[in-house]
Amino acid sequence: MKPALSLPLLLPSLLLSLVLLGLRLQRPEEPPSTPSLPPRHRPPNPLTGAGFLWGQKPPQPGHTTARAAPPRHPLQPPYPYPYRFLLNEPHKCRGWAPFLVLLVASEPGNTAGRAAIRQTWGNESSVPGVSILRLFLLGVHPVFGRELRGTLEEESRLHHDLLQQDFLDTYNNLTLKTLMGMEWVTRHCPGATYVMKADSDVFLNLGYLVRRFLLPPKTNFITGYIYRNTRPIRHPAYKWYVPREVYPNDTYPPYCGGPGYVLSGDLATKIYRVAQRLPLINMEDSFVGICLHALGISVTPSPWGVFNMYWLSYSKCRFSRLVMVHHYQPQDLLAIWPHFQETKCPE
Ligand SMILES: *[C@@H]1O[C@H](CO)[C@@H](O)[C@H](O)[C@H]1NC(C)=O
Ligand SMILES: *[C@@H]1O[C@H](CO)[C@@H](O)[C@H](O)[C@H]1NC(C)=O
Ligand SMILES: *[C@@H]1O[C@H](CO)[C@@H](O)[C@H](O)[C@H]1NC(C)=O
Repeated sequence: MKPALSLPLLLPSLLLSLVLLGLRLQRPEEPPSTPSLPPRHRPPNPLTGAGFLWGQKPPQPGHTTARAAPPRHPLQPPYPYPYRFLLNEPHKCRGWAPFLVLLVASEPGNTAGRAAIRQTWGNESSVPGVSILRLFLLGVHPVFGRELRGTLEEESRLHHDLLQQDFLDTYNNLTLKTLMGMEWVTRHCPGATYVMKADSDVFLNLGYLVRRFLLPPKTNFITGYIYRNTRPIRHPAYKWYVPREVYPNDTYPPYCGGPGYVLSGDLATKIYRVAQRLPLINMEDSFVGICLHALGISVTPSPWGVFNMYWLSYSKCRFSRLVMVHHYQPQDLLAIWPHFQETKCPE
């Protein structure tokens, strides 16, 4: 039942509210923030708008928040956080825009894997008429970070294809690696038509990908091997363990399997931006699905057998009609690539 409101009863409270409002409006503005924020406190990022999304003010120097934030689970990658680029290629897209930016997740110590990828599917000139830009994504080796620094700097000077940020390169931090790639595209290559994220242990056929799926250029597009209605693994013995504290829902939104997925360039920026206000989870590919869910953008299914999450034995004619096969190691790639490039297969 609705209680009848009488005006005489309402008036005093209305007046009180007006007085309180007046007091609020008269309150002096917050003191202007000093120009030198401590380095931890990144000013609102003009690219992401982080800090504006929820109408928050940037943290004021000298003030610690009295309200305790819920403690972060150790498996939850710390984010957003101003990770610094230790190795970067900020000028690669100056004055032009590649058709495909190939972002390859790699481990700092995996020099041989990167060498094999440069000579095989990661060769930027392997698809005639298509401009490809290849970059490896690295964190800092959890044990030998310091020892590997010199070698990585040299590799970077030689090949100019390494991106590295100062987070620990661990399995549960892979989401940070993908977001570093999306950040790089957003900041330094926003005109790229497509972005592909790939792992280092895959075979890729970029020619088929481009011819079959990417032309004409699309927007709000993402495809790969689609997982639907999958559940987080709640048992800590598994590599893919995701505790409830990190992701409470019982299912993930649809997402593309991490070993290889491709998205339109505009979507890379949207994913990066929306990620600034979502709690991260330690599964990189499911997290991209969570970003898509927040953006209201759906995945595009790919025909069966085009993105293969399981190993397949090599055959030229089979591999020329697919995009990705998982579980190909550097030596396998080097062994099959000349044959794959040179042999003809009836269309
Ligand atoms: C990349 O492919 C081009 C064209 O096929 C070839 O000339 C070049 O040697 C390859 N580069 C590497 C690093 O294998
Ligand atoms: C992820 O990287 C951050 C920053 O380096 C580090 O503090 C954290 O321990 C890493 N998390 C895992 C699970 O390795
Ligand atoms: C998680 O579950 C809540 C409640 O059903 C729902 O509103 C939200 O969209 C879900 N989030 C994701 C990422 O699926």
